[in-house]
Amino acid sequence: MNVLGIETSCDETSAAVVRDGRTVLSNVVFTQVARHRPYGGVVPEIASRCHVEEIAGIVRQAVQDAGLTWEQIDAVAATYGPGLASSLLVGLSAAKALALRLGKPLLGVNHVEAHLYSLFLGSDAPSPDSIAPLIVLMVSGGHTGLVRVAKVGSYKLLGQTLDDAAGEALDKGANLLKLGYPGGPAIEKAAAGGDPAHVKFPRGLRHGAAGELAGELDRDLCFSFSGLKTSLLYYLRDHPEVLVNGALKDVAASYQEAVFDALLARLRRAVERHRVSAVGCVGGVARNGRLREKLERMSGEYGLRLVLARPEFCTDNAAMIAALAGAPGSVVRTATDDLDVQPDLVLGVP
Ligand code: KG4
Ligand code: ZN
Repeated sequence: MNVLGIETSCDETSAAVVRDGRTVLSNVVFTQVARHRPYGGVVPEIASRCHVEEIAGIVRQAVQDAGLTWEQIDAVAATYGPGLASSLLVGLSAAKALALRLGKPLLGVNHVEAHLYSLFLGSDAPSPDSIAPLIVLMVSGGHTGLVRVAKVGSYKLLGQTLDDAAGEALDKGANLLKLGYPGGPAIEKAAAGGDPAHVKFPRGLRHGAAGELAGELDRDLCFSFSGLKTSLLYYLRDHPEVLVNGALKDVAASYQEAVFDALLARLRRAVERHRVSAVGCVGGVARNGRLREKLERMSGEYGLRLVLARPEFCTDNAAMIAALAGAPGSVVRTATDDLDVQPDLVLGVP
C-alpha cells in the first residue's frame, strides 16, 4: 500500500510517499526557518500562508520523486493535530481535496504518534515487533515526554513537561545567548569544544506546584525547564561579559548539558520503574550529537538496546505521517469528510 502523507503542523511543509508503513519512497521537506528567523520564533500567520504557497509543489514533487503515478497512490494521510490550527488546516484541506479527486481513503494522523513511529523508518531501523515494549523519550519543540510503547497504537504517557518543551528551552536559551533561531542547532554548534561543567545550572523540578501539575502522571518522570531558563537569564545579567568573550562556548555547553541531564535523569527513573528491554529517542532535539552520545552511554549502563530516529526523521517530516498511516496494525483513523483539525490532540490511549 502506497500512502501519500502530508505534514503542516508547524513550520515545515512536507509531503512523502511510504510503502507498507516502512519503505520511504520519497520525503520532501520545505523548512520555513528563514521566513521566521527575523522574528526569533514561528509566526503562525506566516507559517500558514507559507504552507499555502508551497503545498501543491511539494506534494507534486513527492509523488514524482517516488516514481509513481497518481493512480498508484492508495491512500492520502495528513496530520490533523496537535499543532498550529491555521497550519494544520492547510495540509488537511489539501489531503481532503486530493483524496476526493483520486477516490482514495483519507487518513488522519496524530503528529506525536508519528514522531514515535519515526524510530521504525529507514532500511536499518528495527521493526516495532522486534523491540517493543520500549520507552521512548520524545523531545521536540512542542512536546517533551516519556512514553511506554507496548506496540504500534498502544501507548502509555509516563511523564511530560510541565512547562516548556526541551526544544523550546534550547530555543529560548539560544535567544538569551544571542545565538539565533532555531536555537537547538545553534546551541549545539556554539557548545562545540565548550566545558559542560563550567556553570552548574539547575536540573530539577522545583517542589511545590509541580506535584499538582503532574496530575495522574508520576511526578518524578515529569520535566520542567522554566527554572533553567530563568537561571540563564540571571547568570547573563551577572556575567554580561560572556556574550563578548570566549566563555560563551562554555556557557552554551553548560546550558545544553543541563537540559540533557534533566532528560536523562527522568529516562533513567523510567527504565528503573517500567520494565523494558529497549529505549528510543525521537523529535527534533534527538538530532543533537551530545544527546545521542549521552543516550548511548546510559543505555549501555543499563544493558538496554537503544534506537534513535534517523536525523532526517527527527525533525518534522511527512515520511513519519505516511508511514504510520500505512503501518500494519496501526489504529490510525480513516477520516470522514467532516474530520477537523485538533490543535490540542493528545496521544491516544489504548
Ligand atoms: O520535532 P521538531 O522539528 O518540531 C516539533 O514538532 O516541535 O523539533 C524542533 C525543535 C526545535 O526546538 C529545535 O531547536 C530542535 O528541535 N532541534 C535541535 C537540533 N535540531 C533541531 N535541538 C538540539 N540540537 C539539534 N541539533
Ligand atoms: Zn514535531
